Amino acid sequence: MALALLNPYKTQQEIADEFNVSLSTIERFKKDITFKIPNIGKMKVEELQKQDLDFLEEYKNIIDNEIYLYNIWNLSKGDKANDYYGQFPIRFMKNLLYYRTKPFDLIYDPFAGGATTIDACRFMFRKCITTDLNPIPHRAEEVWKHDILV
Ligand SMILES: C[S@@+](CC[C@H](N)C(=O)[O-])C[C@H]1O[C@@H](n2cnc3c(N)ncnc32)[C@H](O)[C@@H]1O
Repeated sequence: MALALLNPYKTQQEIADEFNVSLSTIERFKKDITFKIPNIGKMKVEELQKQDLDFLEEYKNIIDNEIYLYNIWNLSKGDKANDYYGQFPIRFMKNLLYYRTKPFDLIYDPFAGGATTIDACRFMFRKCITTDLNPIPHRAEEVWKHDILV
């Protein structure tokens, strides 16, 4: 259900219908998982419950290893999350999402280029819609063609 809740094109009612549960079940599930997310950084991997999704473990790894504690961010080399020219390092994007948004927020990137934002949002439990003037062909299903000036 967590993955469905990250689909930016579905309403909560549609998700509830799909999983045959009530809207209050969806709300409870979201609250529960949102509560776990910030705490997960403080938990040991063994403490994660069986029913926790694999990607909660991934989220813990990000908090442990990729979130900067200070306001000078440094990378010794590009992180090659994608091969798009002018790409924004995915690690910086994860930090921006961590400090400036909440889980399940909807993020819009009108200059998505190599789709770094989408990849970072997947790791960080954020919903994401992206557009670009020239979407790269192999991400064209996710990055919609749109000129922000029109
Ligand atoms: C520096 S790249 C973005 C790179 C992206 N953040 C990444 O990590 O891969 C800037 C992008 O802005 C797009 N762009 C430029 N003018 C635009 C416009 N008027 N409307 C939409 N996208 C535009 C370009 O096609 C290019 O993909």
